[in-house]
Amino acid sequence: MAGILDRFKETLEELNVDSTRKVKVGIIGTGWIAEAHANSYKQCPDVEIVALADIIPGKAAKFAADNGLEGVRIYGSDRELIDNEPDIDAVSVCTYNRQHAPCTIYALEHGVNVLLEKPMCVTLEEAVDICRAEKASGKVLSIGFQPRFDENMKMVKRIVESGELGDVYYIQTGGGRRSGIPTPYGTSFIEDKTAGIGALADIGCYSLDMVLNAVGYPKPLTVTGITTDFFGKRPETYPGHPEYAEKFSVDDFAAAFIRLEGGITLDFRISWAMNLDTPGDTIILGTKAGMRIPSTECWNGSIGGPLKIYTKIGGVEVDTTVPEQDNHGDNFDKKIRSFVDAVKTGGAAPVPSSQIIYNQAIIDGIARSAKLGREVTIEIPEI
Ligand SMILES: NC(=O)c1ccc[n+]([C@@H]2O[C@H](COP(=O)([O-])OP(=O)(O)OC[C@H]3O[C@@H](n4cnc5c(N)ncnc54)[C@H](O)[C@@H]3O)[C@@H](O)[C@H]2O)c1
Repeated sequence: MAGILDRFKETLEELNVDSTRKVKVGIIGTGWIAEAHANSYKQCPDVEIVALADIIPGKAAKFAADNGLEGVRIYGSDRELIDNEPDIDAVSVCTYNRQHAPCTIYALEHGVNVLLEKPMCVTLEEAVDICRAEKASGKVLSIGFQPRFDENMKMVKRIVESGELGDVYYIQTGGGRRSGIPTPYGTSFIEDKTAGIGALADIGCYSLDMVLNAVGYPKPLTVTGITTDFFGKRPETYPGHPEYAEKFSVDDFAAAFIRLEGGITLDFRISWAMNLDTPGDTIILGTKAGMRIPSTECWNGSIGGPLKIYTKIGGVEVDTTVPEQDNHGDNFDKKIRSFVDAVKTGGAAPVPSSQIIYNQAIIDGIARSAKLGREVTIEIPEI
């Protein structure tokens, strides 16, 4: 019995990971999400956090003190860290979106593996530059989509891949919040100069990844999109901070109609704020069956209830409920561990840029289409 169960255990040994060698890691940008990175790296006995960087004076040092990282070297920018840490193996890029591309490219160009927070970046052009730097470096670049490690998300993909739905031809996805413009630690999510894009990229990238990953990341061909900002610009949206309304310079809602290679249509909408609880469940329609993925109140990386499959058996309409899967551990810890394993083995990136560039291309296409007021085609240059 033990022998059978052991076959299902993913151990460091099976992955050929040398658990005695410590991976030296740095964190670039010590804001909100950096703490989750630090906590997950601390769970890895074979990882040492050696350096932190933030451009706000004193912020990285305070982060070190608050997170029990005494003795860690502190720098005033990503470049200073990379230039002064020739032995570092990897960095987590935890800056706001506008700094994703420059920090990632600089690290890759200096031979450092990168775990890049989502969304990949702001524009498709930046995504292409990142992919080119990755290719030239031969290093690991993984994008920080922790829902990929959620057992229910994996089930969505397994169901599509099993063929139970037949040929998928239409997907509706998205989600969002009734009232959830993120300003917990200031305005970095709502200003163009730091975030670049609002809800469309911040939580839209998750919805897109859920369905695109399930159907094998088909190439996007054309996009018609709109973005709006009705709530972000209202002072009453920010109790205690009415001045944020003046700074709001991104979208708080986006919707789009996207044609994908293989004849799949993708209908998408996402919101940080709206006069509704949810803009709808995710549905995946196939020629043999359809699947409903209940939306969550605030897009949180998992499903909002059991998956339902609608089909016909023997000419009779049958609905099947798929039991929710036990998640065995924290998705964020798994995202960090899988990156560390890839760094140690030189293995494939757990969430590869070759897929996420399509996610970014759609976001970029929606932003472009919204600006131009018409449909746009998506062209991705050779990497
Ligand atoms: N995966 C998740 O669940 C999750 C959750 C929250 C945020 N995020 C993503 O993480 C990123 C950061 O979000 P946050 O909430 O921590 O933002 P934040 O604004 O709290 O922190 C970003 C930090 O980066 C620093 N910074 C910017 N440019 C820098 C540079 N060149 N060198 C060093 N430091 C630099 C800023 O000074 C700031 O302290 C965003 O892209 C966001 O989308 C992911």
